Amino acid sequence: MVYLNNAATSYPKPDAVINAWQKAIRELPSGQFRSSADADGADILSCCRKRLGRLLGIADTDRIYFTSGSTEGLNAIIAGLGIEASRIITTATEHNSVLRPLYNLPGIGGSPVLLPCDENGTVSPESLEEKAKNGDFAAFILNHCSNVTGAIQDAGAFGEIAKRYGLIYILDVSQSAGCMEIKADEWGVDALAFTGHKSLMGPQGTGGYYVRDGIKIRPLKYGGTGFDSSRLLYDEDTYEYEAGTLNYPGTEVLSEALRWVSDTGVDSIREKERQLTDCLISELEKTDGIRIFGKYLKDRGPLVSFTSGILPPSDIAYILQNSFGIVTRAGLHCAPLIHEHIGSGNKGTLRVSFSYFNEKEDVDALIAALREMA
Ligand SMILES: Cc1ncc(COP(=O)(O)O)c(C=O)c1O
Repeated sequence: MVYLNNAATSYPKPDAVINAWQKAIRELPSGQFRSSADADGADILSCCRKRLGRLLGIADTDRIYFTSGSTEGLNAIIAGLGIEASRIITTATEHNSVLRPLYNLPGIGGSPVLLPCDENGTVSPESLEEKAKNGDFAAFILNHCSNVTGAIQDAGAFGEIAKRYGLIYILDVSQSAGCMEIKADEWGVDALAFTGHKSLMGPQGTGGYYVRDGIKIRPLKYGGTGFDSSRLLYDEDTYEYEAGTLNYPGTEVLSEALRWVSDTGVDSIREKERQLTDCLISELEKTDGIRIFGKYLKDRGPLVSFTSGILPPSDIAYILQNSFGIVTRAGLHCAPLIHEHIGSGNKGTLRVSFSYFNEKEDVDALIAALREMA
């Protein structure tokens, strides 16, 4: 099997991650602050927070909270801020984990203001400036790297503008964490959501969010935190966002995955994935009937989206998987608004996404299959 669907979930995982999974589940269970058989419980979490801080450019790692992934993290941030959607600016490139909370969360109300993107999926920082100076906005949410075209937004430039207009700046690093440099503090990011199972190489159901000191959000979930159990009313000066028993084994495994990413080096990962995407694009350009989205991006995340004149994306993905053993992904990729801007229509694209474990032979196999189908 050739796995080219790493933007959904990375596969395979490094050996260190597989071994950590066995170890985490075999050992006595841990529990932060709670009476626990393993007094190191707190260390598992704080070690993971520190490793995340290094990869995400966050110094105040105590303010990184674990959830089941970006979706829960983004819901926690958006619901916790409780700002009316009409006072939030976001972009056409967002994933449904941003759009659906904005359109559906009780108490949020209204519709967000959307910045357009160009045909490559790039959003211009000037468009934020234009909107911000002409309205009464409170927050800006940005998808750092598009999961449809791979476009990487200029997170630093957006941060400067957000700061100038007093906007709370929220960054979704689901597709960029682990495969490119992230400097949240330097970019002026106020809140951020990450997921563990893509380029961070951890298991599904891991991830979390960060909220800068000074930004008050109400917890999304209430329950036992193992800390000051007698108090029933939430006190906004104490941060007890991790209610209920956490996914300790998952966090321990994620922590090992982060160690692997750091040891391998984000730069080496990026360079290898860049070679694969460049190679794929140049081969696709030589293949009849292929239209590449984001073709003119100077730099991109490790994915390429395209359509073919022969068949709809879902048919191609089906044939690739069932006749050639090549796993890709077809459709809108949970980002419904970008397609109108890049011109990919209501059937979306076929997306090929790489990890550090892919090789040039995988690109060769895909290209051969596409040519045979053509
Ligand atoms: C840009 C982006 N944001 C958010 C998410 C949601 O991540 P998760 O499903 O791990 O919560 C994804 C997942 O595909 C994504 O690509």
